[in-house]
Amino acid sequence: MKRLLPICLSLLTLAAACSVEPGEPVDHSTVQSNLPPVPVPANDPLTEEKVELGRRLFYDTRLSVDGTVSCASCHRQEAAFADAGRQTSVGVRGQFGNRNSPMIVNSAYQPYFFWDGRAQTLEEQALAAFLSKTEMAADTVAVAALLRSADYRDRWMAAFGDTTVSMLMAMRAISAFERTLISANSPYDRYVRGDGTAMTASQKRGMSLFFSNRSMCSNCHGGPNFTDHSFRNVGLFRHYFDRGRYSVTKDPDDEALFKTPTLRNIALTPPYMAGGDSDDGELWTLEAVVEHYDKGGFKFHNQDDRVRKLSLTPEQKADLVAFMHALTDSTVLTNPRFAKP
Ligand code: HEC
Ligand code: HEC
Repeated sequence: MKRLLPICLSLLTLAAACSVEPGEPVDHSTVQSNLPPVPVPANDPLTEEKVELGRRLFYDTRLSVDGTVSCASCHRQEAAFADAGRQTSVGVRGQFGNRNSPMIVNSAYQPYFFWDGRAQTLEEQALAAFLSKTEMAADTVAVAALLRSADYRDRWMAAFGDTTVSMLMAMRAISAFERTLISANSPYDRYVRGDGTAMTASQKRGMSLFFSNRSMCSNCHGGPNFTDHSFRNVGLFRHYFDRGRYSVTKDPDDEALFKTPTLRNIALTPPYMAGGDSDDGELWTLEAVVEHYDKGGFKFHNQDDRVRKLSLTPEQKADLVAFMHALTDSTVLTNPRFAKP
């Protein structure tokens, strides 16, 4: 047993626990019939109690240094857990960040997080947002006191079977909640499940074009979540101030590459693209995004070859936009399990 202790401690830093945790396993089977099973860390079981604790933490502005910001301030349910209508979001003390807030529904399937992929796990990502000076700038002593207070004590005990409080465990609870933010009930999903009437004729034409070599869209936006999880440059600018993946790897081949984002619920989350660069480059509509791809980009030196002049007809452009609207799962906006408690 003595020899096990250091292993337990090092596992703890990997957001794992040694003790067996209590609680009711979450049943995901009904929501994700078009998606593979949600990846859950083997040593961090998804339980109803942990998810409920995480949901409360996700919505609690008291976790931020000035009590003004929670995760939900920038990942809002009514905007499919992105921050629609803003190029960048407002963090503590009214500060603006430098990139567009991504939609985090189905982010449990991602192998890494942020536009430049600098976090490897949801837990690591959440901790970064929680501690970031511009996002939440959490005072960990104050947060620990809050978690030990009557507001959280019982829920913490129910989730972890222990009263020991740590920031990492709080991030595990938030991540557990994020692992339940799953969406696969868009018209496209219903169509794939066999309901031929779920999509319009234009959406069906758009789907064929999207999944064709003519457009190459699905080459990068492929798979069940419309991303191959690669880093690419799509030639939005001639010069990039935001160096994207390069800032993580320092490899010149990664200059200004950004994560290929999911297109699920994309119609709900304008403006588009990582957006850290300039005001004029911002794309506010799906029509503008399709125009960008149709023109083939500004030929930035690291631009991917598959982004090239397409010369689509007006009808083809409209079909692509219509298809992207078929990826909206409006149940995300109203699901009470995702809502502020
Ligand atoms: C002030 C706004 C703000 C707050 C508060 C905030 N986020 Fe974010 N979030 C962002 C932005 C902006 C990004 C993208 C940043 C980047 O790529 O560098 C992001 C990225 C993410 C991602 C990665 C998504 C992806 O596709 O890579 C997840 C997951 C996430 N946030 C969850 C959270 C959680 C959990 C919290 C609370 C602990 C939180 N966020 C708090 C703005 C915010
Ligand atoms: C070479 C890979 C690649 C191809 C091909 C591609 N995309 Fe993208 N797409 C990306 C990347 C990478 C981004 C993010 C770029 C950035 O922020 O600088 C993106 C962003 C987007 C966005 C904005 C997403 C958001 O959350 O802001 C939309 C919409 C989109 N692409 C649609 C399409 C359509 C439609 C096609 C086909 C006409 C297409 N893409 C082809 C890689 C690709």
